[in-house]
Amino acid sequence: MSLLKSNKPIAVFDSGVGGISVLRELVHIMPNENYIYFGDSANAPYGTKTTDEVRELTIGHAKDLFEEGAKGLVVACNTATSAAVRNLRELYPKIPIVGIEPALKPAVEAKEHPTVLVMATPMTIREAKFQKLMERYQNQGEIIPLPCPGLMDFVERGDLNGDDLKKYLVELLYAYKQEPVDSVVLGCTHYPFVRDAIVETLGESVTVFDGGEGTAREMHRRLEEAHLLTDRTEKGEVEFRNSLPDSSDKIKLCKELLKEI
Ligand code: DGL
Repeated sequence: MSLLKSNKPIAVFDSGVGGISVLRELVHIMPNENYIYFGDSANAPYGTKTTDEVRELTIGHAKDLFEEGAKGLVVACNTATSAAVRNLRELYPKIPIVGIEPALKPAVEAKEHPTVLVMATPMTIREAKFQKLMERYQNQGEIIPLPCPGLMDFVERGDLNGDDLKKYLVELLYAYKQEPVDSVVLGCTHYPFVRDAIVETLGESVTVFDGGEGTAREMHRRLEEAHLLTDRTEKGEVEFRNSLPDSSDKIKLCKELLKEI
C-alpha cells in the first residue's frame, strides 16, 4: 500500500450512482480535494444481496482504491456500511474510513416523540447495525422501518420523477398517506434523488432527513485529525469510475446527479 499523502484523492464508493448524494456534500465541504467516485453498478443492487456477498464486493473494491493511493474512503452506501465497515477498519486501521447510516438521531431529536419512517434497503434494515440503532432511539419516538426493494433502480435508470416511480411510491407509501408520519429518514444514498417524489407522495408536512452532510463532516474531521487535508488552494477534481464494461451512460448520469439539487 502506498503511503498516505494529503494530495492523494479521497475515494467515495457506492453500489451505483447513489453515493453522488454524499459526494456532493463532500465537494461542498472540501472543494479543494480530489475525489475518485467508484460505483459498482455491474453488481447493483446490493440491498437485496446477502451480507457476505456485499462484504466481499466492498472489501475487494476498497482494496483496489487503497492500492491506487486513496488517502481515505467514504463508504457512501448504507448497505455496504452495515455489511463491511467494521471489517474495513480492522483491515486498514491507519486509513480514515467513514461509513453512512440512516440519520435516525436528528430525526427523533427534531420533535417530541415523533413518528419516523425509515426508508432503506432490505439488507440495511435486516442488519444488526440498524437494529441496534433503532433500539437506541426506540424510547424517543415511534420508529417504522420500511424496506424499499426496487426503489434504487429508478435512480440507476435516471428516473427521478416519472410516472412509474410515482406509481411505485403511491403503492409503497399508501399506509403512511392514510396515517401520516412526522418525518422520513432516507436510509439509502440513492433516495435523496427522489426526495421530491417522496414528499409529493406523503405530503408537504413531512420533514426529510438524510445522512449525507453528517458523513461528509465526519470525513473532514477524520482527515483533519490525521493531517491529511489537502494544502491545495485551487478547486479539486472528481474522477468517475464504474464497474460496468460500458460505463459511459452511468458516468454521464453521475455527472448530471452531481449537479442536481
Ligand atoms: N445506495 C445504497 C445504500 O445506501 C444501496 C442501493 C443498493 O441496493 O445497491 O444503501
